[in-house]
Amino acid sequence: NKVVLAYSGGLDTSVIVKWLQETYQCEVVTFTADIGQGEEVEPARAKAEALGVKEIYIEDLREEFVRDYVYPMFRANTIYEGEYLLGTSIARPLIAKRLVEIAAATGADAISHGATGKGNDQVRFELGAYALAPGIQVIAPWRDWDLNSREKLMEYCADNNIEVDMKRGKKSPYSMDANLLHISYEGGILEDPASESEEDMWRWSVSPEAAPDTARYIEIGFANGDAATLDGEALSPATMLETLNRIGGENGIGRTDIVENRYVGMKARGCYETPGGTILLKAHRAIESITLDREAGHLKDELMPRYASLIYNGYWWSPERKALQALIDQTQDVVNGTVRLKLYKGNIMVVGRASEGSLFDATIASFEDDGGAYDQADAAGFIKLNALRLRIAAKLGRKLD
Ligand code: ARG
Ligand code: SIN
Repeated sequence: NKVVLAYSGGLDTSVIVKWLQETYQCEVVTFTADIGQGEEVEPARAKAEALGVKEIYIEDLREEFVRDYVYPMFRANTIYEGEYLLGTSIARPLIAKRLVEIAAATGADAISHGATGKGNDQVRFELGAYALAPGIQVIAPWRDWDLNSREKLMEYCADNNIEVDMKRGKKSPYSMDANLLHISYEGGILEDPASESEEDMWRWSVSPEAAPDTARYIEIGFANGDAATLDGEALSPATMLETLNRIGGENGIGRTDIVENRYVGMKARGCYETPGGTILLKAHRAIESITLDREAGHLKDELMPRYASLIYNGYWWSPERKALQALIDQTQDVVNGTVRLKLYKGNIMVVGRASEGSLFDATIASFEDDGGAYDQADAAGFIKLNALRLRIAAKLGRKLD
């Protein structure tokens, strides 16, 4: 028997390799993906080899991640609970998919991951794996073993000759997760939702106070609802996000500090930096504002929280996501054009939008004489008929206040 492990190369997943080998007497296959977490993935090879791993998968999934997961999600202007741009949530379906694909390719019957039994990530990995490979077995060591403290983990390393990388200095006081869309921080002092995070926690952005005193203007071009150009230059999805992360971070954009409802039932406090994503969300809404039909746009907005929850809860690979995605995508073929934005000390201001397919009709909207494009007298009947049911009820004496 054989198990494919989502392996970061870090201490926790290195312990998991050894623990799986010992506990199940099995071959461990490691899978390490570059999804833009900003750490080299190649060192994971030597570490896995040192642990006796023979089949090592290391892949650059950055373009696939943004193109097939982040961009489709952004077409819906997706936000969970009004604040969270789902940076971690949206990366999990891709990892789950590759895990079961690698299991099939290597003849493994199980997959494993380093998520704890208290969080969302376990749910996302496992729902994804079961949806794509219904017969797969799942091993989640954090739910099974008794290495539930740093000390026990270190002891286990010492007993099993697992090299603990002291060069990397003290372990960060936060549980972090990063990819091209965001970096997240949980745990440590953040566990008191009343206390402000320390400034040196933030890694991707300067504080608004430290941002430049002059505004930065950018122009984003959209094609079928996806960001395609930046200041006139065509950029691949991953390069777009990478570039906007840098520009946004320099201008103090994209920090959030929230308490969110985890799927398993608890509330959790988290801090996030999503500079590029925050810019793209604002820009996408702006281009939709001139290109999307009102009711099509409102329908999308009504469905968005559902769509956000299903991604947060781990149902990317589900019939309801597929159906919603088809609807969302179908609205986007008219979402073309450019948006000009002004970035200044944590703020994103839309200052212009233009499209060849704009529904904005200057003649009709004008306060000046429109030459008969819109007959104001029509509005009287429009209002009267809309008021009809209100007047009938009021005449009957129904209290409406
Ligand atoms: N709370 C966020 C979410 O559920 C971030 C989770 C971070 N995951 C991690 N392994 N540190 O999407
Ligand atoms: C974890 O528990 O592994 C991280 C937090 C989460 O998944 O929500």
